[in-house]
Amino acid sequence: MTTDILPRIAVLATGGTIAGRAGDASMTAGYKAGVVGVNDLLDAVPALGNVARIHAEQIASVDSKDMSHALWTTLAQRIDALAAQDDIAGIVVTHGTDTLEETAYLLHLTVKTAKPVVLTAAMRPSSALSADGPLNLLNAVTVAACAQAKGQGVLVAFNNQIHSARDVTKTSTYAVDAFRSPEVGVLGFVQDGRVEFQRAVTKAHTLASEFAVGAQWPMVEIVTSYAGVSRMAVDALVAAGVKGIVVAGTGNGSIHASMTQGLVDAVKAGVAVVRASRVGSGHVMRNGAASDDALGSVSAGTLNPYKARVLLMLALAAGVEEAGALQRVFERY
Ligand code: SIN
Repeated sequence: MTTDILPRIAVLATGGTIAGRAGDASMTAGYKAGVVGVNDLLDAVPALGNVARIHAEQIASVDSKDMSHALWTTLAQRIDALAAQDDIAGIVVTHGTDTLEETAYLLHLTVKTAKPVVLTAAMRPSSALSADGPLNLLNAVTVAACAQAKGQGVLVAFNNQIHSARDVTKTSTYAVDAFRSPEVGVLGFVQDGRVEFQRAVTKAHTLASEFAVGAQWPMVEIVTSYAGVSRMAVDALVAAGVKGIVVAGTGNGSIHASMTQGLVDAVKAGVAVVRASRVGSGHVMRNGAASDDALGSVSAGTLNPYKARVLLMLALAAGVEEAGALQRVFERY
């Protein structure tokens, strides 16, 4: 195959451990994230030349713990602009693992393209023995160049697995198989140039989504329920003018009685309240462990608190505020 007929894939770098460097190759925790440029990342993977023609852009150089709404806007808008170009077949975003699941879901709900958009990352810095970034990058480009990946929404290629942005979450602080899609599992696999999808994404996303990034990022915060918790955090957020609160509840989204009193008053003050769970898998049933009808709250279903926050922000920004309408949003996306 001649290289000029290979698909053209845009690689947008934002930083993270995949672009991290340590002073010593044996270090996998003590390093600085986001210091290696996109061209150096690409040069470390000569096999990319057999898969795609690469267009590279350095969008940012951040540790993803510092991801911002402004950077989300920049990224989503740049993806939309590139996806509109006939000569771009797909887009890869290199990102830190720490907030990858939030950025991936944000893009899943806001970019307007059927072209593959694939996030990838690494658990070990680029300088490490057995760095995982180069193979993850090669696999992400391989997925982005694959026709089957079209129309599946935003994907995450990591450790030979392909996850949907909606379901994926980071589950280990150190392991190279750090990502899981609890309950629903992976979408498929990528290995040695072969991409195989085993299920499809069913919830609405990308072209079917009513949401877009805009000037508005309503203040939505997360509180956690735990033994001995008070209503203090909820009251402070309401006093600060919060528009929405996601509760990382215990179990099936249950909430301590003390905090519940604060949430009742928050709903009365016009704050949207969503019940999610701190458990990490499973779902939160409407009117299950707490009465959403009585509280005026919304259940997050299978979305974890961080993804529920992303969806609530977008819904509020789009003017969806009433609890019933918000519940329908949480069921559709
Ligand atoms: C980050 O999220 O930017 C640092 C951690 C990582 O990428 O694993």
